[in-house]
Amino acid sequence: MKKLLGILLFASATVSLPGYADDVTGKTLLTQACQQCHDNSMYSRSNSILQSYPELQARVEFCENASKVHWGDAQINQVIEYLNDTYYKFPKP
Ligand code: HEC
Repeated sequence: MKKLLGILLFASATVSLPGYADDVTGKTLLTQACQQCHDNSMYSRSNSILQSYPELQARVEFCENASKVHWGDAQINQVIEYLNDTYYKFPKP
């Protein structure tokens, strides 16, 4: 019982850290939906087509549409955050 309580406390602590939770969800979404055409090495290629945060947002929206997964804005934003935190590190406008 004590162990269960510990797990529950840990789980609620995790969801109360929005940045971390977004990145975990963003990574899961990316793995599920975005590897039909390219793998994650696309996001660290040296000849990236992206120069800024708005371009990253536009590209994720374009690719989300192409992958036909029908995400909502919240999911699209989680993936944009995850990609920016992990790969691109563009300053946010
Ligand atoms: C229908 C095929 C397809 C799917 C599905 C797809 N992509 Fe793409 N994506 C591409 C292609 C093709 C490019 C390269 C475009 C170019 O070089 O002009 C690309 C490029 C990108 C880039 C830019 C990489 C860079 O730095 O140059 C990002 C970011 C990206 N995709 C994100 C995603 C995300 C997020 C998803 C899932 C929602 C996704 N893609 C699903 C086809 C796809």
